[in-house]
Amino acid sequence: MFRLVATTFSGAEEVLSKELKALGAGEIKTLSRAVEFTGNTEIMYKANLFCRTAFRILKPFSTFKVNDEIELYKQCKEISWEELMTADDTFAIEAVSSHEKLNHTLYIAQKIKDAIADRFRAKSGKRPSVDLANPRYAIHAYVEKDKCTLSLDSSGGSLHKRGYRISATGAPLNEALAAGLILLSGWEGSTNFYDPMCGSGTFLIEAAMLALNIPSGMYRKGFGFQRWRNFEEELWNGILAKAKSGIKNSLDIKICGADISEGSVRAANINIKNAGLEKFISVEKKSFNDFMPQGESGMVMINPPYGGRLDASPLPATSTPSHRQAGPTPLQRRGELAMSSPREDIGLLYKEIGNHLKKNFTGHVTWILTANREAAKQIGLHSSKKIQVYNGPLECRFMKFELYSGSKKRNEPTE
Ligand SMILES: C[S@@+](CC[C@H](N)C(=O)[O-])C[C@H]1O[C@@H](n2cnc3c(N)ncnc32)[C@H](O)[C@@H]1O
Repeated sequence: MFRLVATTFSGAEEVLSKELKALGAGEIKTLSRAVEFTGNTEIMYKANLFCRTAFRILKPFSTFKVNDEIELYKQCKEISWEELMTADDTFAIEAVSSHEKLNHTLYIAQKIKDAIADRFRAKSGKRPSVDLANPRYAIHAYVEKDKCTLSLDSSGGSLHKRGYRISATGAPLNEALAAGLILLSGWEGSTNFYDPMCGSGTFLIEAAMLALNIPSGMYRKGFGFQRWRNFEEELWNGILAKAKSGIKNSLDIKICGADISEGSVRAANINIKNAGLEKFISVEKKSFNDFMPQGESGMVMINPPYGGRLDASPLPATSTPSHRQAGPTPLQRRGELAMSSPREDIGLLYKEIGNHLKKNFTGHVTWILTANREAAKQIGLHSSKKIQVYNGPLECRFMKFELYSGSKKRNEPTE
């Protein structure tokens, strides 16, 4: 058993802890944007393959006090790197720092690299070389206050890069964030799932993967630990084979999406096909206003445009001249305008979302993710739960709306 750290996004620590517990991790400790735990090689491999909300699974190997670059170099030179790698291996260093002075991450990486090279040269005259793209050992340096922790990155690059997304429009959600939000919502794959503003299809694909029991790492080309000298191929193949045998091949729920933008629908369909999920997810080009549920109950998850500068993305295909010629409805037009900024238009879009939900989605639970708190007020429904998360640098609210049938009162806003 050894110590491991799984990193994640702010707000997903508890969900990630649960995921790790289910895999058999021990001594789980929730940190800020990370979860510390103990496990063996099998658990480390499984955490990489199965944890939907983890960014990286790190294996710490050295922690020391550090206050400046001279100390950093000295401390790093004292580490027995030769026990970790040989002069024929390649490595790369990625640094993260919240240290007041020692905060230039490229410089930190450079100093650690120098220490490794100098130590090897002094001992054997030969040194391992840097390979940023495909290193045998990806080293993660985390400097916080006066403490530096060096870890092996067993993931070899962030796990949110699942491998299925080959086309994106607008502002696609980080895949681990999308999966985390679905898990936070409590949806477990037993009711219909809808994303009527699906963009490149992230919620839909993550929902289908969850419902079908497809591990989050199934489509990845590989993981960092597979390049390590002590990689246990037989163990890994066993884990993979068991994971594959647990994948369902049918679903008795519907997973449906839509988007007003033709470009988004195209991108979503490309990604869905790339993930081999076209049998389970349908996406249509339509305005949210025309999107209707296909049953009495289900989960609706929406990541609408945030409006103005909050949408850190170029205009999607919705505002192309050909689309305008097609004669957009007022809501479609507002959707377009919402992309290009005016505050009142984004407010109207959110108002229409609330009205449409009230009118047509009774019996459903809806979660909306937005960074635009002013616009969110226009939804006009009372949210029964609000969770703060970050979508990249944007502070967002993930809000739950329960649309009960026959109790109109409960759906009215209280604030
Ligand atoms: C923030 S993006 C969603 C990104 C998506 N979650 C993803 O991961 O790719 C918002 C999407 O809402 C769509 N949209 C805007 N107004 C709409 C409307 N009235 N009806 C349907 N879709 C709309 C946009 O075309 C855009 O793709």
